[in-house]
Amino acid sequence: MKQGRFISLEGMDGAGKSTHLAWLADYLRARAVDFVVTREPGGTPLAETLRELLLQQDMTAETETLLMFAARREHVAKVIEPALQRGQWVISDRFADASFAYQGGGRGIPMSLLQELEAFTVKTCQPDLTLLFDVPWEVSRQRLHAGRQQNGTVQLDRFELEAQSFFERVRAAYHARAQASQGRMQVIDAARGVDEIQQDLRALMDGFCA
Ligand code: TMP
Repeated sequence: MKQGRFISLEGMDGAGKSTHLAWLADYLRARAVDFVVTREPGGTPLAETLRELLLQQDMTAETETLLMFAARREHVAKVIEPALQRGQWVISDRFADASFAYQGGGRGIPMSLLQELEAFTVKTCQPDLTLLFDVPWEVSRQRLHAGRQQNGTVQLDRFELEAQSFFERVRAAYHARAQASQGRMQVIDAARGVDEIQQDLRALMDGFCA
């Protein structure tokens, strides 16, 4: 029986998720909530190995999709469900919505197939709240380039190297999912300054925790 609560963070690359995740962790700590922070793809040793392959190795869209869900199955079974059952909250930097956005919207994998994979791997383990950090392409590029400068060169992974058209399809798929989510997914305009975003986050989280 699930006792903890499950929050996922989503958004396009460069939306500033890491900054907002750190804020959320501080917020929960201040409320004495017992929580674990984890991420996808990743969160277990095997899933982290799959992450390295997924971010760096060339592969077909079908292989990518199956590896994403394989990593997710490990993550759900070994980290998320046990934590929720212990009564801990789980904060995951991305979850299944990312597959619908990136593999579905971005790569064109049929949504019906993704739904079947989701049913097979995730079963009923769904987030109670999903924060979707939304930015336009120009902001995403600007932040990625500013944040990833190493030795004068910009280090981007396989997804970050995709063209603007891919980004726009991912973004549209996220929006469509948010609209159909009956309030579970909250879209946050993440192109604004950090203070403004955090004000919104505080109001949202106060409501969620009430
Ligand atoms: P991150 O950079 O936010 O940690 O995520 C790694 C990348 O993996 C990001 O570009 C989005 C991508 N991704 C998918 O394509 N499908 C998925 O299901 C997940 C969880 C991530």
